[in-house]
Amino acid sequence: MSKQILVTGGTGYIGSHTVVELQQEGYDVVVVDNLSNSNIEVLDNIAKITGKKPQFEQFDLADRAKTEAFFEKYPNVEAIIHFAASKAVGESVEKPLLYYRNNLVSLMNLMDCMGKYDVKNFVFSSSCTVYGQPEKLPVTEATPRQDAESPYGNTKKVCEDIMSDTMKANTGLKSIALRYFNPIGAHESALIGELPNGVPNNLVPFITQTAAGLRDELKVFGDDYNTPDGSCMRDFINVVDLAKAHVVAIERLLNDKNKENYEIFNLGTGNGSSVLELINAFEKSTGVKLNYSIVGRRAGDIEKIWAETSYANNELGWKAEKGLEETLLSAWNWEKKVRGIK
Ligand code: UD1
Repeated sequence: MSKQILVTGGTGYIGSHTVVELQQEGYDVVVVDNLSNSNIEVLDNIAKITGKKPQFEQFDLADRAKTEAFFEKYPNVEAIIHFAASKAVGESVEKPLLYYRNNLVSLMNLMDCMGKYDVKNFVFSSSCTVYGQPEKLPVTEATPRQDAESPYGNTKKVCEDIMSDTMKANTGLKSIALRYFNPIGAHESALIGELPNGVPNNLVPFITQTAAGLRDELKVFGDDYNTPDGSCMRDFINVVDLAKAHVVAIERLLNDKNKENYEIFNLGTGNGSSVLELINAFEKSTGVKLNYSIVGRRAGDIEKIWAETSYANNELGWKAEKGLEETLLSAWNWEKKVRGIK
């Protein structure tokens, strides 16, 4: 019988791509999502790619009784991948309690249920945001974490601490925190991708929406940073590459290949690209000219960050494979599909 994996936030951007990779590797996936920032049709699109619609339960993981009822109903879950969380940096500054409640309580409920319902394996979506602006680049997993710039960032840090402490107290449980750099792009089928509500905060959805004519102009936040072209630099990683790392992490836990019962991995490409380089790569790969202008810096932005990937590469046997242009083209194909552009 195939092993059953719970994917929380499985209708979201990274979650949906991970569900596809898990199903394609033969796992039986159950998705839990409250659909607060995603759409139920994603499940049908997953099924168009994989031939199988994942099982689905709609509820809020901050609801303890419903979370327990879920594990009563699904006693065969062997591992959890926990994506479900609020992730808008600006909103988290306005509504810190919403962010702390959603992101911390859901994690604690799941960890409690792991003990109670004997689910031993847990993979968590963390972020390179925990590093702040590191003094030395690239950042390794041992690079010290810094004070978070936002309540959102702090929830990632505190969730890591909750995991670490829980693993110390319950040595029968195993978990991995994956620190994502900047996930971009979409599945090559253009059936799933990133679909932000309202005006996008993140760079690539803003680029593709501008190219599609939904936005007049992309604003590049600052060209006076200490980088070769003055714009900020990030480690942009293809979302399918990122999704595949989750399958590897799950297999590491299920096969007892982990070295400690709480492990951390950076998930990036190892390359830093600037915002202006990304715009050029988008124009080159899609042939679409982008309307953009340089404006002032965005509050809270990190100047530059990219990952040291050797630990993830060697220890997980995983490597990001897709290039920037291919990835940006996939993002554009997805945007065109969503907007009905030929
Ligand atoms: C942001 C969060 C990060 C979070 C991630 C989730 C901050 C400081 N960081 O990452 O914690 O994990 O989102 O998705 O908010 N840019 C423009 N114009 C735009 C949009 C972005 O120039 O319209 C620039 C930004 O200034 C930045 C780069 O593009 O230099 C990437 O921005 P974004 O996609 O928002 O990601 P991060 O800020 O790296």
